[in-house]
Amino acid sequence: DRLRTLLQNMPKAELHIHIEGSLEPELIFALAQRNNVQLAYASVEALRDAYAFSDLQSFLDIYYAGASVLLTEQDFYDMTAAYLARAHADNVRHTEIFFDPQTHTARGVPFETVINGIWRACQDAPLSAELIMCFLRHLSEDDAIATLDESLPYRDKFIGVGLDSSEVGHPPEKFARVFERARNLGLRLVAHAGEEGPPAYIESALDVLKVERIDHGVRSLESPALVERLVREQMALTVCPLSNIKLRVFDVMGSHNLRTLLGAGLAVTVNSDDPAYFGGYVNENYFAAFDALPLDATHARQLARNSFQAAFIDPERKRAFL
Ligand code: HPA
Ligand code: ZN
Repeated sequence: DRLRTLLQNMPKAELHIHIEGSLEPELIFALAQRNNVQLAYASVEALRDAYAFSDLQSFLDIYYAGASVLLTEQDFYDMTAAYLARAHADNVRHTEIFFDPQTHTARGVPFETVINGIWRACQDAPLSAELIMCFLRHLSEDDAIATLDESLPYRDKFIGVGLDSSEVGHPPEKFARVFERARNLGLRLVAHAGEEGPPAYIESALDVLKVERIDHGVRSLESPALVERLVREQMALTVCPLSNIKLRVFDVMGSHNLRTLLGAGLAVTVNSDDPAYFGGYVNENYFAAFDALPLDATHARQLARNSFQAAFIDPERKRAFL
């Protein structure tokens, strides 16, 4: 119908996508074969059958296992090129891609192999693509600092830093020093907060880490004072509807608070998070939300506008999209 055509065709930015989460089961098997890596699953179907998650941690365990097939610069290039082609087909004009270097350096894959492969695919892409390096919050801040140090020779290849992995028990303030260092380096700052964690984590991401966007942030609604602040500051939330259902943040899409967040005046964007694991790329996220919730063409245009407004792109180019 017309709404679906609008959602499909409207130019949009994607601001919350983990590149390792774009690794499709077919590519996992192809890379395992190419690299002689032994997988714990007998077939693509058996692997896909394991994608039944009960919470964030149950997903992360299988997501890190999937990433174990990535060994060479070409592997990282191929994974990234496949995502960029899919994003382009969804009329994504600009994307800001998370990558998790610690997932790879901990396995002995050099930092330069990871970033060079991902970065080269971005250079060859039919849309603009920037990189945001994420620190794994279940690891120590010292490990994050060592990663930031390791990244400095490649400072021109990424625009910012983020914070992902297991949220509860690893509050933003655990990473105060590394984010301060990143800020002093002129890097843009984002963090996952309020996905499974409480509103207090969103507040400390803002106050202690000084982030410029909140990844997820759906639990902000539990604190009216926080919502008022986020609206006043027009702090963008990078919401990922299919992720939230698959990881049981909400039971069903009809219970998702996306419409309520928008109605409150929050700067909501729609994103795919880990499209190979959660059942769809960015347009599938728009379709699923618009099918289940009372959202119309005005909301669609607002979400697309928000995505460019919240993007780390130069003001001139931003204006052209708004
Ligand atoms: N939350 C936290 N860490 C992640 C996610 C997420 O949704 N996806 C990939 N790493
Ligand atoms: Zn995420």
